[in-house]
Amino acid sequence: MKNIAILASGTGTNAAKIMDHFIGNPEVFVSLVASNKETAGVLDEAVERGVPTAVFTNDQLNDEEFMLNMLRGIDLIVLAGFMRKVPTFLLEEFEDRIVNIHPALLPKFGGKGMYGKKVHEAVIEAGEKESGITIHLVNEEYDEGKILFQESVPVKQTDTPESLAMRVQKLEHEHFPKIIQKLVRSL
Ligand code: GAR
Repeated sequence: MKNIAILASGTGTNAAKIMDHFIGNPEVFVSLVASNKETAGVLDEAVERGVPTAVFTNDQLNDEEFMLNMLRGIDLIVLAGFMRKVPTFLLEEFEDRIVNIHPALLPKFGGKGMYGKKVHEAVIEAGEKESGITIHLVNEEYDEGKILFQESVPVKQTDTPESLAMRVQKLEHEHFPKIIQKLVRSL
């Protein structure tokens, strides 16, 4: 049995799908949902499902002792809409064991400041014919770690950032839990 921790800053629709996917799963146990935002909806999603939660400040995120203590016993860290840079000590401690999802086809439309709605706005603005999702390992550079999985969706001429976001989110919900399961098996 491997333990995973989800780090998230937002509403937590991905985290909810991941928690639901692994309920009763003999291989994976979601043991923690932690957020840098105490009002993040993701914490409610966890509480509803009886998954332990934690909230940390930006100072605590960069405090090695605090974070390693919080993440003791965790085998894989899942970033599901986590909007902070992961500190180097965590990258070292969890080498190739931190996975992120990004709502576009990296290496396009990634990097610092590119998250959530901004990504979809940029994709539409650039006149792209397709967008999609990227699931990748996390390294020192924003959105540049090894790509594990990508899937695309068409961008329609009539798309707004919201309508494109919905299409992309559907893919995220469908694939992220499965890719996590695959990754856990390779640990
Ligand atoms: C997801 O679309 C995820 O891809 C994105 O944040 C959203 C979180 O939604 N992540 C990034 O943009 C990271 N650069 P959720 O809180 O509903 O799961």
